[in-house]
Amino acid sequence: MLNKKKIIPYGHQWIDKKDIKEVVKVLRGDWITQGPNVERFERAVAKYCRVKYAVAVSSGTAALHAAYTAAGIKTGDEVITTPLTFAATANCIVFCGGKPVFVDIQKDTLNIDPKKIEAKITKKTKAIAVVDFAGHPCDYDETKKIAKKHKLLIIEDAAHSLGSEYKEKRIGSLADMTILSFHPVKIITTGEGGMVLTNNKDFYEKLKVFRHHGIIKKPEKGGWYYEIEKPGYNYRLTDFQCALGISQLRKIDKFIKERRDIVAKYNKAFKDINEIVAPTERDYVKSAWHIYPIQLNLEKLKNGRKKIFEEMQKEGLGVQVHYIPLHLQPFYKKKFNYKKGNFPVAERYYERAVTLPLFPKMPDKEVNKVIKTVKKAINFYKK
Ligand SMILES: Cc1ncc(COP(=O)(O)O)c(C=O)c1O
Repeated sequence: MLNKKKIIPYGHQWIDKKDIKEVVKVLRGDWITQGPNVERFERAVAKYCRVKYAVAVSSGTAALHAAYTAAGIKTGDEVITTPLTFAATANCIVFCGGKPVFVDIQKDTLNIDPKKIEAKITKKTKAIAVVDFAGHPCDYDETKKIAKKHKLLIIEDAAHSLGSEYKEKRIGSLADMTILSFHPVKIITTGEGGMVLTNNKDFYEKLKVFRHHGIIKKPEKGGWYYEIEKPGYNYRLTDFQCALGISQLRKIDKFIKERRDIVAKYNKAFKDINEIVAPTERDYVKSAWHIYPIQLNLEKLKNGRKKIFEEMQKEGLGVQVHYIPLHLQPFYKKKFNYKKGNFPVAERYYERAVTLPLFPKMPDKEVNKVIKTVKKAINFYKK
């Protein structure tokens, strides 16, 4: 039975008066969609991520769909990706007619294991879609070497990692295309929203056309005139959402600092508890820490993850599990013949994972409560 107490969510937006003021200003103006704030937001994110082009879209999912389409993924193509991700990373490959070819993850970073990629490359492989799980950047140097050798594109799902750094380079220009999500639990928010970043002009043009029904304007034939060579979607982000995004981006350093401070407190508190494995940050990366997934050391506990998860919920923690590996989902099993046992590292992680609450402006009182509750549950169930 759940407590009537307020639940501490696993993630939460931080909207302040300035954000609200910026949105209201747009709502009082003439353009509420496709106004000047769309390009302003795109330019601001591109500058922050040190990349040439940015295309704002209505969600991270739309960004993935647009990126795979711009990459030319079509029926029969294969895209190598990780099973440990949100459904959209693989679903959007399927939208394009492609097959997600999963590759198991690294035990520490929980990201795709570059050592296991080459064995999965076939004549049909067109791209590698990597995911910076929890905010931790993937092994780009290793992945790029493989991509170059086999002439594959890299699409980076950076839904978790806006502001993260890999060998002192900020996420955004490491891959051929990088996608962001601005869902409320992410690093910055526009409500729903997403973006594709690239240094490639051809991809940039394709992304813009795809976002807007496939419409290509031809003003030389008349001010009204346009042509559609291939149908696109309405994946536009509104002007007031972009105004919110610009305002949120001004605070990103503070958001990430707060996330990192809370992670430091958790790491310190859980350091000597053998029943828990805390998430890793390798020394050459700086993570924006979208989530804090711990793993339970089940061999040292009397009860399984379900019982301990429910115990934490009862105490008021809005714990989560990120994610059920995609190859275990009925659709992927049926359509592509995946089965349990295919990706043992991802499966082992999944059986042990619990995501603890983490968001900027999380009160100290709540951070302490999370620590206390986790310790209490572990003490109760340890062998
Ligand atoms: C790794 C990953 N990719 C893609 C998405 C999709 O983003 P959105 O919810 O903005 O469509 C998410 C959202 O949770 C995600 O976590």
